Amino acid sequence: MTLKTCVFDAYGTLFDVTAAAREAAREPRFSSLEAQWPRLAAGWRDKQLSYTWLRAVAGAHVDFWQVTQDGLDWALEEAGLSGDAALRERLLQLYMELSAYPEVKPMLEALKAAGHKTAILSNGTPEMLAAATRSAGLEDLLDALLSVESVGIFKPSAKVYDLVGETFVGAARDVLFVSSNGWDAASAAAYGFETAWVNRAGNPPDRLHGTPRHIMSDLTEIPRIAAS
Ligand code: LAC
Repeated sequence: MTLKTCVFDAYGTLFDVTAAAREAAREPRFSSLEAQWPRLAAGWRDKQLSYTWLRAVAGAHVDFWQVTQDGLDWALEEAGLSGDAALRERLLQLYMELSAYPEVKPMLEALKAAGHKTAILSNGTPEMLAAATRSAGLEDLLDALLSVESVGIFKPSAKVYDLVGETFVGAARDVLFVSSNGWDAASAAAYGFETAWVNRAGNPPDRLHGTPRHIMSDLTEIPRIAAS
């Protein structure tokens, strides 16, 4: 049996994208966020992702750090907080070093102990992915950090999923691709990867052109699925 290569989406899958707003809201100088951080985090993520899709369709690529700032600026203005330069700076600093979900490190350790190759495949820039994996202490547990910046278009372009085959030996069906983003999991399944959707939020499945084979609420089952 071929040992599967395990490839992970980054934001929302390994790293908690709500952590930046939640952690800033705990700091006394940003008490203005206490009540509204969940809405700010949701608006930020929503615009960040929408901008990636719109820019991909329009052929107007800028990197994910720019898109992350653009999404934040929209969300801060919507919340009436766009004048708070210190808050903007703190949120971006926290986003560079997002917390990983608690099960991530033991899950990657189990995959490495079983001999699997592991990687991130993300919209994030190489700098963002290096900073997040370093601050979460994951750098020795990942064989590759694959960024869309090497192809200049965001997910779900097939050019992005092609990066896995260009980096690791083996067929698409020997890749276990894991994402918490329903649209990313559906698109990766349509591409031909065995796919696991980490449905942390309990969302309905996306009605798209592919169907993930596995659905789970967190990452703890990944080593068992990778071995099957
Ligand atoms: C990523 C976004 C989609 O990491 O979460 O690619």
